This record gives sequence, structure tokens and C-alpha cells, in this order.
Amino acid sequence: MDLRRFLPSDLFAGQVVFVTGGGSGINLGIAACFAALGADLAICGRSAERLATARRELEGLGAKVLTEVADVRDYDALARAMEVTRESLGPVRHLVCGAAGNFPCPAEDLSAGGFKAVVDIDLLGSFNASRAAFAQLKATRGTILFLSAGQAFIPYPLQVHVGAAKAGVDHLMRNLALEWGRHGIRCNSVAPGPIEGTEGMRRLAPDDESFRNRLRAAIPLGRFGAVGDIGAAAVFLASPLAAYITGTVLVVDGGQNLPGSCPFTELLAEAASNNC
Ligand code: COA
Ligand code: NAP
Repeated sequence: MDLRRFLPSDLFAGQVVFVTGGGSGINLGIAACFAALGADLAICGRSAERLATARRELEGLGAKVLTEVADVRDYDALARAMEVTRESLGPVRHLVCGAAGNFPCPAEDLSAGGFKAVVDIDLLGSFNASRAAFAQLKATRGTILFLSAGQAFIPYPLQVHVGAAKAGVDHLMRNLALEWGRHGIRCNSVAPGPIEGTEGMRRLAPDDESFRNRLRAAIPLGRFGAVGDIGAAAVFLASPLAAYITGTVLVVDGGQNLPGSCPFTELLAEAASNNC
């Protein structure tokens, strides 16, 4: 989707957007939407190579881009990245907390370390980024967008760790919206459905045409999402169009979660029995 057909190409001119996990997938797509509307970008992740590739894509859209190797579980690394961003690009106006980990695993097989890894990346990592960016967001009266998921409000099989982490992320978002509203900081979540071509989708939906066709058919809008669907929601929530919106979860899933997780559960059970 070319956002510039609907929104001014200088909507975010002079504004700095920091995206955790911005080197790939949905987060990179969000960064690209901000870049297309004039923003400068700071992106962090663990892999310098991945960030370098993303940087070229974002620079191609006209943005100034800073890449920072930082693990969101490491508060000091994020605090340094925020400071370097302020010095190099200017104060952060919009923070996107997108870094996350996921793998399917039955609860009875999940180790304490596996549960902790996902909660630490998604939930602690989102707190770390928000806390480290607070002073700059206060100065800019900025916004925070958290990447949630349907697992936050509907239990999905093999996703106990992700459900707990993302439900925590949404509640963190509400608490920060409550406490930081007085500084003009708005906080919201976006909960994507299954987004085609992403790592998250690769990990959860077996690469099998018939499985995917049936999963797609269970989505009321009849298609998987595109990265741009989430980018459009992200720029809306950051824009003046959403000036009075804070503390909300915007579900962008084509209606996928409306029937609950049953269609997905049934498909997984069938796939598992076919493999027996
Ligand atoms: N099934 C069950 N447990 C798993 C697992 C899997 N597929 N993959 C990792 N784990 C467990 C490990 O056994 C370990 O637990 P232990 O300490 O009890 O042995 C724990 O998770 C941490 O594993 P490790 O590989 O050290 O974690 P990491 O910090 O290097 O990586 C992950 C984090 C596991 C979330 C990894 O999948 C990742 O980096 N993901 C990022 C990309 C991604 O998930 N994208 C989709 C986003 S929706
Ligand atoms: P992705 O491409 O794997 O994105 C995750 C990013 O986070 C990667 O760039 C990864 O880079 C980074 N990351 C992971 N662990 C990190 C850490 N400890 N510190 C810093 N960065 C870290 O996956 P995606 O599918 O696009 O998912 C993006 C977001 O959307 C996630 O929050 C996910 O939960 C959410 N979501 C996705 C879907 C979907 O269908 N894909 C659905 C619902 C919600 P490095 O590995 O280089 O660090």
C-alpha cells in the first residue's frame, strides 16, 4: 500500500522513530511506513547484518537511519542506544516496541528457560525500551506502540509463553498510558493477525498449502494480513488523527480472532495426527 496516496508525505518530517526489532518483518514494515511519511529511524536488534540490510531499505525511502546492536533484555544497552539516537538524530518522538520471540511448544514440554526467554524479550524488553525512552518521549510529548497478538486475549495451543508475555505487554501499555498521559505521552498496542511472509507466521503455520488454505478460509476477511496493514495502523496511531486515543489495543487481524482459536487448534490437531 502506498501510504502517500492517503497521508501527506511529510507527516512525520523532523520526527525520530525508534523501533526495537526493526531489522525484519512487521517491525521493518512499520519503520518503512514511517520513513515513507518523512520520519528518521533508529532500529535495534541483535544481528548487525540484518540491521544493515534494513538500513539500506529505509535509506532508499529517504530516511536518515541509525542502527544499534542491542538486546532488549539488556537495559543498559537500550539506554545507550536511546542516548546515541538523541545525539545523532534528535529526541525520540515515537517508540515502537516490536522485538519478540516465539516458537510453538506444548506447555508440558516448555522449560522454565523457554518461558522466561519469551517473557523477557517481549515483556521485560518492552518495559526496558519504554523506560529508557521516557525522558525523550516526555520532551517530545511522544507515543509508544506495543506489538501485541491475539494470544494476549485468547488462549492458543502451544503458546502459553507468548500469551502470558503479550497479555503482560498490553497491561504494561495501559499502565503507562495511565501514568504518562500527564506528560502528553500516548501508549497503544496493535495486535496483528497472521501476517504473510513473516517469521512469526513461518513459525506458527506449517508450510503446507492445504493447512494454509484452511487457515485462510477461517479468517472472516478471507486473506492473511500484509506487513503494510500493520504499518498503516501504526502510523495512524502515531499521527494527530489519533490525538485522543491512548490505552487501547487495535486488533488488525481480518477478524481472525473472532471465532477464537478453535479453527487453528483443530488444524494443528489434524496435522499432528497425520504426522503420527
Ligand atoms: N521449543 C522449546 N523450547 C525452546 C525452543 C523451541 N523451539 N527454542 C528455544 N527454546 C528454549 C531453550 O531450550 C532455552 O531454554 P533452557 O534455558 O531451559 O534450555 C530457552 O528457550 C532459551 O533459548 P535460547 O536459544 O538460549 O534463546 P535466545 O535468547 O537465543 O533466543 C528465542 C530466543 C528462543 C525466542 C529464539 O527463537 C529467537 O531468537 N527468536 C527471535 C525471532 C522470532 O521468534 N520471531 C518471531 C516473532 S513472533
Ligand atoms: P521477526 O521478523 O522475527 O521480528 C522480530 C524482530 O525482533 C527481529 O528483527 C529480531 O532480530 C528482533 N529481536 C528478537 N529478539 C530480540 C532481542 N532480544 N533484542 C532485540 N531484538 C530482538 O518477526 P515478526 O513475525 O515480523 O514479528 C514482529 C512482531 O509482530 C513481534 O512483536 C510479534 O510478536 C508480532 N506479531 C507477529 C505476527 C505475525 O503474523 N508475524 C502476529 C502477531 C504478532 P534479531 O534476531 O536480529 O535480534
